[in-house]
Amino acid sequence: MKLCMIGTGYVGLVSGTCFADIGNQVICADKNQDKIKKLKSGISPIYEPGLNELIKKNYLAKRLSFTTDIKQAITSSDIVFICVGTPTKKGSLNVDLSYVYKCCKEILKYTKKKKILVTKSTVPVGTGDEIEKIFKKKKSLFTVISNPEFLREGEAIRDFKYPDRIVVGSNEKKIFSTMRKLYSPLISKGSKFFTTSRRGAELIKYASNAFLATKITFINELANLCEKSEVNVEDISLGIGSDSRIGGRFLRAGPAYGGSCFPKDTKGLVSTAEKYKINLSVVKSVIKSNSERVNLLTYRIHKILGSNLKNKRISFLGVTFKPNTDDMRDSTSLKMIPYLSKKGAIISYYDPSGEKKEFKNVKNCYFKNNIKNNCLDAHLIVLLTEWDEFKTIDFKKIVKNKNFKVYDLRNLYNINEMKRNKIEYYSVGRPLSN
Ligand SMILES: NC(=O)c1ccc[n+]([C@@H]2O[C@H](COP(=O)([O-])OP(=O)(O)OC[C@H]3O[C@@H](n4cnc5c(N)ncnc54)[C@H](O)[C@@H]3O)[C@@H](O)[C@H]2O)c1
Repeated sequence: MKLCMIGTGYVGLVSGTCFADIGNQVICADKNQDKIKKLKSGISPIYEPGLNELIKKNYLAKRLSFTTDIKQAITSSDIVFICVGTPTKKGSLNVDLSYVYKCCKEILKYTKKKKILVTKSTVPVGTGDEIEKIFKKKKSLFTVISNPEFLREGEAIRDFKYPDRIVVGSNEKKIFSTMRKLYSPLISKGSKFFTTSRRGAELIKYASNAFLATKITFINELANLCEKSEVNVEDISLGIGSDSRIGGRFLRAGPAYGGSCFPKDTKGLVSTAEKYKINLSVVKSVIKSNSERVNLLTYRIHKILGSNLKNKRISFLGVTFKPNTDDMRDSTSLKMIPYLSKKGAIISYYDPSGEKKEFKNVKNCYFKNNIKNNCLDAHLIVLLTEWDEFKTIDFKKIVKNKNFKVYDLRNLYNINEMKRNKIEYYSVGRPLSN
């Protein structure tokens, strides 16, 4: 099939590349010239394991191409996927749909023959109806459907190729057979193909993200109780997660949830519900609890190092919101590091995905190019992101400063081993010894 992805970010690039890999002709279009230039020279603009290789393979096979020419992308395709961002509007909880609507106006301008228009971007329930209003002049040319994306950064290719379910929402049932055909290589490998109304699909995406955010927040709050009552939160996760009605995933206590989806989608769901005069009080308290968690974990550094942080050397291992991605959106580090810098601490960080522009103007904050250089003189090492290369660090060997401490926000290390090595060690929701 001939497809185009409008918006070549995490979702557009990964899904476009994977669609090409299952035999489709795909054009990835983006208005960002730098991004397209990089892609044309064989470099992925994002860090995503396996993506570079898959791009190269499909680019060389001439199934995948990149352009800034939106008109050409639209006119050459039968199915147009909207994959642009849907961030939170500044100063509110509302979803900023301006990128989606702008993109629809361009699609309208360039469309001369019948097309299926698919929103892959996460959009509030009812957005498809608004898009149809934009298209009303050429109504007969468009079928507007919803096919939300559930991939996770860091595991995006696997998630796209082996999804738990593919959700397609349309008010025209005849479109389901075309979409089933498009996804048939994934369906034949066992993925569930789930059809619903267009509004149903839009809401499923928000409900999924809000539910997962709730699970994380629930276990994070329980971790606070575990710390006070000397219980290991990992036992709680295992104990409740073994119940198939609950399920064990997304029950690891740690920092506040971050990333490009959960923070904005929980807010987006609450604000959409308010438009329908519905109070989603559970999701509201999840948002509040998550935002308080960033402060709670930051202030804990005072408990470890004392109230005066002036000239204290604090080294961060990982700053992205999770491993295997370079995405910094809503990462806990974005609040923690500037706060500690304001308090006079000297910050260093190492992240396998490289230096971050977000910290360029933060006073006394330095990027180090490996674990050893980063931790050498630390008073405190903060493990923020559980990249694989952090799992087996021999701290005693690499840190020169004798009385260094470790604050492990991902419960990556063994408490007893830390004790044996005489390292002052703090983690999340676990008693000081087992
Ligand atoms: N990132 C994820 O893990 C993820 C997962 C599932 C769903 N989503 C959803 O997918 C959507 C896209 O997310 P993302 O993370 O890929 O965003 P992103 O910011 O990485 O990419 C969006 C891209 O769209 C481009 N763009 C914006 N307007 C354009 C236009 N008019 N024409 C051409 N290009 C345009 C931007 O330049 C940018 O490259 C969002 O709605 C998001 O909620 C994201």
